[in-house]
Amino acid sequence: MTRRAVARGIGHYLPDRIVPNSHFEGLIDTTDEWIRTRSGIERRHFAAEGQTTSDLATRAAEAALAHAGLTAQDIDGIIIATSTPDLTFPSVGTMVQHALGMTRGFAFDVQAVCAGFIYALCNANALIVAGQADRLLVIGAETFSRIMDWEDRSTCVLFGDGAGALILEAREDAEDRGILATDLNSDGRYRDMLYVDGGVSTTGTSGKLRMQGNPLFRQAVDKLASTAVTALERAGLSGADVDWVVPHQANIRIIAGTAKKLGLPMDRVILTVQDHGNTSAASIPLALSIGVADGRITTGDLILSEAIGGGLAWGAVVMRW
Ligand code: ACO
Repeated sequence: MTRRAVARGIGHYLPDRIVPNSHFEGLIDTTDEWIRTRSGIERRHFAAEGQTTSDLATRAAEAALAHAGLTAQDIDGIIIATSTPDLTFPSVGTMVQHALGMTRGFAFDVQAVCAGFIYALCNANALIVAGQADRLLVIGAETFSRIMDWEDRSTCVLFGDGAGALILEAREDAEDRGILATDLNSDGRYRDMLYVDGGVSTTGTSGKLRMQGNPLFRQAVDKLASTAVTALERAGLSGADVDWVVPHQANIRIIAGTAKKLGLPMDRVILTVQDHGNTSAASIPLALSIGVADGRITTGDLILSEAIGGGLAWGAVVMRW
């Protein structure tokens, strides 16, 4: 008997407002063609005024609960990956817990920027395998539109808002189902490659995102491929066993470069970057949810997810759906 964390339900939420690349053409020195060819992004969703990360996360959680046929009372805890919380504290997790009407269990946030959902999944997996919880809601939710410098053309065209939620459940007889292996890494020497230039104990403001895109791009492909190989090896598997790569969606060229290094064709990659832009910690659960909803991901499929973000922090998860 092997106790594992197995996917029970998935859902997502995207704000109504869709912003095409052409929106930026009149505002900054850029073109739809540059954004499409350099990043693969065609459009993204932006949260409405007053709509917060916890609002998006709650909608995604409700969709996942409906998909699983569960209610909030069936959940032992909530882990939310976000770098754009409603407030400095309390956590977005406790806000979502309250919004869902949950009065038991626990909730907390994980902050690993674009790698946040991978970090949250690893935490949830460890809690479930250790017997601390039987059913957890793992959510990636972001409002990156709130930390954009709208005059910085090298960043403001790349990001979007959204949320995705996955329900993980303990199974004692899981054997080959659920989370099979994980790998986490970080290295603070790369801090200046991607950061927000404000915070509680420095400026007292929330700050704006700053990124050295090109050096980060080069780090991303190498680190994503190597963490993916490590996680696959830990599961006793190789690229050939993977049915679907569900990567962090920052840039189509990073996704394609990583898939090439792993020897995986692009028709085995779930791509949402064209429609969502980079939604940071929300991008993997959004892509998973869309892959399940449109019938590509089905029970028994082997899924490889990898992500890298500010820190730098990066990692991978191998799971059988
Ligand atoms: N429109 C037109 N031109 C632009 C724009 C724009 N929106 N933005 C930048 N440029 C220009 C630059 O100024 C530069 O011009 P120059 O050569 O005259 O100096 C030129 O385009 C090329 O710029 P590069 O930065 O070299 O372009 P690159 O091919 O690297 O693509 C990009 C840029 C899309 C940002 C890419 O580097 C990238 O995706 N990087 C990684 C992003 C990422 O993975 N982030 C991690 C996750 S995010 C997180 O954790 C929050």
